[in-house]
Amino acid sequence: MSTLIRPYRPADLDDLHDICIRTGLVGRDATGHLRDPDILPVLFAAPYAEFDPGLVFVADNGRRVIGYVVCAADSAAHYAELRARWLPRYAERFPAPAGPPADLDEVFADLLHHAERMLVPEIADDYPAHLHIDLLPEGQRQGLGRRLMHTLFDALRERGVPGVHLNMSRENTDAAAFYDRIGFTELPLTEDRDDSIACLGYRLD
Ligand SMILES: CC(C)(COP(=O)(O)OP(=O)(O)OC[C@H]1O[C@@H](n2cnc3c(N)ncnc32)[C@H](O)[C@@H]1OP(=O)(O)O)[C@@H](O)C(=O)NCCC(=O)NCCS
Repeated sequence: MSTLIRPYRPADLDDLHDICIRTGLVGRDATGHLRDPDILPVLFAAPYAEFDPGLVFVADNGRRVIGYVVCAADSAAHYAELRARWLPRYAERFPAPAGPPADLDEVFADLLHHAERMLVPEIADDYPAHLHIDLLPEGQRQGLGRRLMHTLFDALRERGVPGVHLNMSRENTDAAAFYDRIGFTELPLTEDRDDSIACLGYRLD
């Protein structure tokens, strides 16, 4: 059966959760690398499906969802919503570290409590949207990532969004090759940022 790209449905949430963890460590399986890997979908998948399901698309192979793209059209509004109505739900399960993050679990917990740090003010006008895309290994290198991206781009154009960005670990050289083929370019940032993370942008006009 061929794999279909379709809009997200609430029943897909468990698959999103699973995919996010199994691709969550620089594109590879995070299982066993975190004490509680649920922090990954709590940060990088589930809130998008809840806040704006119209900008979530999935690859469905007829048995299950094997990949997704999630997006926030207005990143500043997304992080404000995370703080106001998402963080209270998870703050107790993933408490903020007492000091500087001591391990990977604490890095992500810290990010949950200060998600607005992911906002890049100098690109907010030109690239207000941001996205995350992940496919299970069995779905990779078959053109599904490209199809998910172009489905999302069409939805963003319909809303008049001028550009979309994403943050990528420079270690993820496979993803870098993919984004380059799709047409993303690295955005030169003036702000003092962690240089292990690249910010890539794609104009929709
Ligand atoms: C990165 C990812 C989204 C790419 O999706 P995909 O479905 O595998 O990519 P596609 O098959 O649609 O490929 C699109 C283009 O990118 C190229 N490409 C994809 N992966 C590549 C790789 N590892 N190396 C070189 N080129 C690659 C393809 O050759 C294709 O080029 P072309 O169509 O111009 O000939 C997917 O592999 C993935 O989910 N990886 C694990 C999770 C991850 O790293 N997510 C990104 C986190 S920032």
